[in-house]
Parts: sequence; C-alpha cells; structure tokens
Amino acid sequence: MIKVDLSGAAPFFTDMGPDYAAVAAAHRTLAEGTGPGADFTGWLSLPRNMASGELKQVIATGKRIRSRSQALVVVGIGGSYLGARAAVDLLRPTKKPDDPDIIFVGNGLSPDAMMDTLNRLGDKDFDLCVISKSGTTLEPALAFRMFKGLLQSKYGAAGAKKRITAVTDAHKGVLHNMAVNEGWETFVVPDDVGGRFSVLSAVGLVPMAAAGIDVQKVIDCAIAEFDALDLRSPENPAWQYAAARQHLYHNGRSIEILASYEPSFRFFAEWWKQLYGESEGKNGIGIFPASVEFTADLHSMGQFIQDGPRTLYESVVSFEEDLESFTVPFDIGDPDGLNYLAGRKLGDVCRTAAAAVKQAHIDGGVPNIGITAHRRDEEGFASLVCFFEMACALSGYVSGVNPFDQPGVEAYKKNMFRMLGKPGAV
Ligand code: PA5
Repeated sequence: MIKVDLSGAAPFFTDMGPDYAAVAAAHRTLAEGTGPGADFTGWLSLPRNMASGELKQVIATGKRIRSRSQALVVVGIGGSYLGARAAVDLLRPTKKPDDPDIIFVGNGLSPDAMMDTLNRLGDKDFDLCVISKSGTTLEPALAFRMFKGLLQSKYGAAGAKKRITAVTDAHKGVLHNMAVNEGWETFVVPDDVGGRFSVLSAVGLVPMAAAGIDVQKVIDCAIAEFDALDLRSPENPAWQYAAARQHLYHNGRSIEILASYEPSFRFFAEWWKQLYGESEGKNGIGIFPASVEFTADLHSMGQFIQDGPRTLYESVVSFEEDLESFTVPFDIGDPDGLNYLAGRKLGDVCRTAAAAVKQAHIDGGVPNIGITAHRRDEEGFASLVCFFEMACALSGYVSGVNPFDQPGVEAYKKNMFRMLGKPGAV
C-alpha cells in the first residue's frame, strides 16, 4: 500500500486542516454510484473483471508478439497511450535481449517524428497494436493507416491481418467495424471506463505484456490495492492525498508539481497529468498538474520552485527500496575532492539529496507531500495507479466537478476537422 507523508505540508495548513468529512462523503458518493459520471466508474472493478475475463488472452497475445516480432508498434494517444507508456518506461526502461522494441506512434502529427520512428523500426519484424476507443481520433487513425500499409507491404494482406491487434469499443466505431470485417484480434475498452482510467484494461496491458511485464502480477496487486483503498478512514492514503491537495488549493496553491528522483518515472508523471488535469480542470476551477524530474530539473526549475510565486506545492513520489546498488569508489589522491563520499551507496546519496531538497523547498514556502511505493516493480506500479485513480475521483468529487468527463477536449477537434475539410464538419 502507498504511504503518504503530510509532515511537509502540515506547516502550511490552516487551523481547519484538510476536510476529511468531505472526502468521506465523496467516497460514499463514489461507492454508491450517486455522483456525476457514475456510469464511468468501471475502473474500480477493472482488475477483477480482467482477471476473470480478457487477462489470459492478453498474456497469450503478449507471448505471441514476443515470439515472432522484434518490435511492437503501438498506436494511440491520450488515455489510449500514456498508461502503457508509463508502465513500459517505468518497468522496462532498458529492454532485455529478448524483449521487442515497444514503439509508440500516433500521439502527434509531426512528419519528422514519423521518419524517426520509421528509421527506428528499420526492417525489424513487427506487430501492430492499435488502441482507440472511438476509432476516430485523427492522430492515431492516420498513423494506423500508414503502419497498416507498411505491414501489408511487408507481410502481404493475409500475413498483416495476423499481426494486427485492435483495442477498441466492444460494439461500435470505425475501428471496431474494421476489426470485425478484417478478422483482427480484438480487445475491448469497457463502456464504463474512460480513457485516462483505462490503463488496467487491455489498453495498457497488451503493450505491457508484449514488453515482458508480468501483467498477472499487476492485476493481482491492483485487486488487493483497490480493496485496501476502500478503507473509510483518514488512515486511507488516498483520503490523505485528496484532502491535503484540496485544502492547499483552497489556500492559494493552484499548481501541483509531481516530482520523482527516478528518470524512468517521467511518463508516469505524464499519465498522472492527464488523469488529474482532465478530471479536475473544468468549470473554471482546478489544480494545474505539472511535473519535474529530480535531480536534473533542480538545475533548471529549482530557482522557480524555491523562489518564484508561492502558488505551488510539490508531491514527491519515491520508492522505499532501490532495485540496483552502486558504491561510490575511492580515488587515490582525491583529485575531485569526492572521497568524503567513498564507500557510500549512490541510493543513499540520492535520498540525502532528496531530504535536503525537501527541507529547502519547505523553508522556501513550498508545501511538500510525500508519496512512497515499495519498489519500482509490478506491485509498485499497480499500487501507484490504484492510489492515484482513487484519490483523483475523491478529489474531483470534493471539488464539485464530474471527474469522469472531458467536454473541453472537443473544442480544438471541431476547428481542426472544419479547417481540414472533413465532410460534415462545421
Ligand atoms: O481521456 C480521453 O478521453 C482522451 O485522452 C482519449 O483517451 C484520447 O483522445 C484518445 O481517444 P480514443 O481512444 O477514442 O482514440
């Protein structure tokens, strides 16, 4: 279970303190399905449903891709992309010799990036996994058309069919229809799960399985984690995080910076930004989610965090145990003056740096929330996902919004389709 440490935020709380009664009410609303967007809370039972449903097929698909392909091209954007990318980057930051290269495409429209991807793919044998709930999102739809063409020219029409996996709506949409007509292997994005809450469905699990991540373990841990997060008490870490961030927001802290000392956490932070930004930023309110990578960004963003406008707070994600261990070597003559660290573990140096940063930022007026997972492994990933999803739903309900819709993302699409001349677009 995730641990939340509010000791670095408490000095900034007013006498009222975080409102746990409001979070308790939000939890009731969520559990009883009486709040706005209640028909999009299927993510709470997703791990159990996967375990008794598609999980075996996901594992088999992952094995098949691994056995025949040196690369998996994954097409998707937003909620159909960031969760899988977060998992693959966090748990497989460098691939093992037998792992296929997981190449994410369809998350932009840059021709230069397309060429870079084609160069990276080279003449590798590859499978194609297209993920789109609607099937109509322009970026992935265009990328899919291009990579499907490439697959067909490499393996022929019949061969290509066997190498395409589609993750989409169960009943409708362009992609669903294409998959049915062509006979591609398909997985479902459940009707009651929105894109940003879908990482524990086939949306996230198919790329994860192909990358060599133990998805059975992810799902088993997620089941246990959601059970634990149902605790109705201020001891619940999701309550603590949700209550603290709403309290800070109502006291002038409108920007949250998610920080980590693990570079492989970068895309998890991108996933988190979508989760919180899309869930809470509406009706003229919301906490702006930003992210930094420490210690690197201390040398670029450190000044602003330490000394800029006091409208921000930081939430720092860390792992209790390192997976690897390095000892600082002794150097005869101490030419660089670093022998005072000789014999110390790099992980301990990192933790000491983190403690120093925390103290400096608190002294500089930045509230600090600590969020700790056990290890950077399947269990750690699952527990972070469940924790952040649960806290997001509670925080959204406390703030009075529907945390499960995203009406604002349609505005640019309307303009873009009209300007591109899409038939019927106005
Ligand atoms: O959360 C969302 O709704 C978005 O980020 C979508 O996931 C994203 O636009 C991709 O949509 P689709 O899966 O329909 O292609």
